[in-house]
Amino acid sequence: MPVNKAHPSTSVFKDNIFNGQVVFITGGRSGIGYTVVETLMRHGADAVIVGRDAKGLAESAAALQKSTGKRCIAASADVRKVDQIRAAVDKAIEAFGRIDFVVCGAAGNFLAPISALSENAFRTVIEIDTLGTYNTVKATLPHVRKTQGAYLHISATLHYRGVPYQAHVGAAKAAVDALSQVIAVEEGPRGVRSNVVAPGPIANTEGTLRLVPKGSETDIIPRIVPLARFGETIDIGNAAVYLFSPAASYVSGSVLVVDGGEMHIRGTSLPYPESVLDPESTKKLVVGSKL
Ligand code: COA
Repeated sequence: MPVNKAHPSTSVFKDNIFNGQVVFITGGRSGIGYTVVETLMRHGADAVIVGRDAKGLAESAAALQKSTGKRCIAASADVRKVDQIRAAVDKAIEAFGRIDFVVCGAAGNFLAPISALSENAFRTVIEIDTLGTYNTVKATLPHVRKTQGAYLHISATLHYRGVPYQAHVGAAKAAVDALSQVIAVEEGPRGVRSNVVAPGPIANTEGTLRLVPKGSETDIIPRIVPLARFGETIDIGNAAVYLFSPAASYVSGSVLVVDGGEMHIRGTSLPYPESVLDPESTKKLVVGSKL
């Protein structure tokens, strides 16, 4: 199946480089994860998408098959529940007999200052992002060892510095980055690679809708992103293709930041210090905030 020219920015990669290979992705139903799996499928991979929303997953799997011509199955599971993740892996093996690539993309995010973050709220994000990654790695590793495959963790850049309202996510993503490095070191001698992609502000994603104030593409983004635009989900899809491809066969334990240069000049997208001194003032700025 040739690369869909409606997505010209993927055409720099050879068609069908992942033919006969299988990607297992948590969080592939929507947003960045959806584009990542679609891009890998456009280059030949079959896929298993994993998430909590069974109906949404089935719809996404059907749409992915239609747009790429490759096979995609939906496996409903909560990454926090190890038994469910193991069952999803069993389903993948039953369908395809192998897993080559694993994308740990399931994540939870919302804005909350630590003073208003309940224990359950903090634990919930740690459980989804960090424990979810651990559960996914544990369940898939025997199969990834067999194929000498690779892991890709969708992380973030916000934990490189202190970002207001992101204590839970910063802690969770820092742990994900650490896990990836250890996997790279422990599994490298068996031919397994592990890398992180760290997206910056990506347009039309759940995370950006929640974290970046409304109307910021003309106002804030040109001041906080050197490349002066939001990223697109395809920018992360292309990073995934590279990191799973033979072109990255000597790349492991690395973090590929895809953020238009944002982290080098990062301030905060919320007014500072007003937003931390008066969380109420942030309510009207951000979609999905229930501070
Ligand atoms: N501010 C503060 N606390 C919040 C919150 C917010 N905006 N959203 C959720 N929480 C708290 C809940 O109040 C609850 O804590 P409590 O029991 O002390 O009240 C805890 O987090 C768990 O939330 P709940 O919604 O019950 O958990 P869940 O497992 O069903 O879902 C999320 C967790 C993170 C997925 C959910 O909050 C969510 O839908 N977030 C937005 C979508 C998202 O994160 N997408 C990924 C973007 S990267």
